[in-house]
Amino acid sequence: MTRPIIIDTDPGQDDALAILLALASPEELDVRAIVAVAGNVPLPLTQKNARRLVDLSGRTDVPVYAGCPRPMVCPLRTAENVHGRSGLDGHDWPEPATPLQAQHGVDYLIEALMAADEGGITLCTLGPLTNIAMALVKEPRCARGIGEIVMMGGGFFEGGNTTPAAEFNILVDPHAAHVVFASGLKLTLLPLDVTHQALATPARIARFAALGNKTGKACAGMLSFFNRHDVEKYGEDGAPLHDPCVIASLLQPDLFAGKMVPVQIDIAPGLTLGMTVMDWWGVTGEAANCMVMNRINADGYFDLLAKRLARLP
Ligand code: RIB
Ligand code: CA
Repeated sequence: MTRPIIIDTDPGQDDALAILLALASPEELDVRAIVAVAGNVPLPLTQKNARRLVDLSGRTDVPVYAGCPRPMVCPLRTAENVHGRSGLDGHDWPEPATPLQAQHGVDYLIEALMAADEGGITLCTLGPLTNIAMALVKEPRCARGIGEIVMMGGGFFEGGNTTPAAEFNILVDPHAAHVVFASGLKLTLLPLDVTHQALATPARIARFAALGNKTGKACAGMLSFFNRHDVEKYGEDGAPLHDPCVIASLLQPDLFAGKMVPVQIDIAPGLTLGMTVMDWWGVTGEAANCMVMNRINADGYFDLLAKRLARLP
């Protein structure tokens, strides 16, 4: 039984490996569509990069949509310093052949979710939550079609990576994150607390390069570029490979562990804007609204990635 998913993403080298992992796993995941959002780089580039990844994977059956070009309230903040000007620096990409769908990504989300069975679709979010929140605001009834939202974002014991308090995906659009975390929907979060345990070390990158296919070469090149910023920033032997954790948690849940926790988003202007405020020790007595993962079997994670990426062209 395959699991219908929609990937919402701001590619981004780590998004790229997440998307390729999903597209390499058709026995488990029915990727209905990829919806691009502004984040790591502006929307014209994130949608183009999503199309490039569909081309690379050979899964040209998967449609790509462009969603929102900016957050709901805040001005757009991007991360070319991490991902390069293209968003996928580190590999020489041809122009994409896969067309961009004409329909707006938010309207696609609403249409797909309204047509789905109750709880029929898992949303996998790899970037800011703008598209998801806009769909929920524009057509609240579409929530019925959402079985779960599995997100990369936030951080608690690890703090933030963009401000001391906030992780990039949440900080770019804290108001969208607030809409999602207050929605009452089934939520799973893969924050920095877990992704910082999954470092793309040189040995792990070399394994991708040795796959002998175009995909492995592209991933090794992208991660080598992606590493330079975070290795300098964290002084570790590799960059945290954030986004594929979302897809891996669906493919091999036993690689991860965490607990149900009350999570709220700080939307007040100031030092902690965009913070995922997690009541990890239950001091508020609030009801838990999110499964927060804080443990990963990193070797198993990279093993899964290498084995699945080997399947692609
Ligand atoms: O903070 C890491 C997250 O922000 C990842 O999703 C990365 O791709 C960027 O979007
Ligand atoms: Ca991302």
